[in-house]
Amino acid sequence: MEVLRIKAIDTHHIRHRILRPHGTVEDCIFKGDTDELTFHLGAFVDRKLVSVASFYFERNDIFPDPYQFRLRGMATLPEYQGQGLSSALLRTAFPVIKQNQCTLLWCNAREAAMGFYHKVGFKSHGDVFSIPQIGPHYLMSIQI
Ligand SMILES: CC(C)(COP(=O)(O)OP(=O)(O)OC[C@H]1O[C@@H](n2cnc3c(N)ncnc32)[C@H](O)[C@@H]1OP(=O)(O)O)[C@@H](O)C(=O)NCCC(=O)NCCS
Repeated sequence: MEVLRIKAIDTHHIRHRILRPHGTVEDCIFKGDTDELTFHLGAFVDRKLVSVASFYFERNDIFPDPYQFRLRGMATLPEYQGQGLSSALLRTAFPVIKQNQCTLLWCNAREAAMGFYHKVGFKSHGDVFSIPQIGPHYLMSIQI
């Protein structure tokens, strides 16, 4: 397995299949995808891209940290889940986030994925909230 930086467009196939199966490809283009500080990571197995995650320089006012990154679009193809790929993407991202003087990574986590986020050290904040067409979410964060 290899973790590499990828382009926003490289994430679209997995985002579409795993995160927005009922949406269009346009729904897989996220605000800030091509911003200067945004970076996208992919895990490759036998040269095939099987897991993606994207990181945006975006502050959430709920947290006091002046400089923060936001995690979005984290997904692993079903046949590769549970093999440590998303954890590997996060481990690769943490030092990059730190290099950018940021101390916190946050995300709106799907309720079904909370077990994953807890395992890798995220904490949840506040009550469940709903994102239309996607479902229940929790705000989660990890100190970097
Ligand atoms: C959530 C997801 C990204 C995790 O990816 P992954 O590559 O399978 O994650 P890892 O293999 O690195 O998992 C790390 C640990 O979390 C556990 N884990 C993974 N998904 C979990 C879940 N949904 N609930 C509870 N535990 C989970 C793994 O079993 C593993 O445990 P271990 O360390 O004891 O072996 C993946 O399951 C997925 O794509 N889900 C569908 C899309 C989704 O919900 N994305 C998140 C959007 S907020």
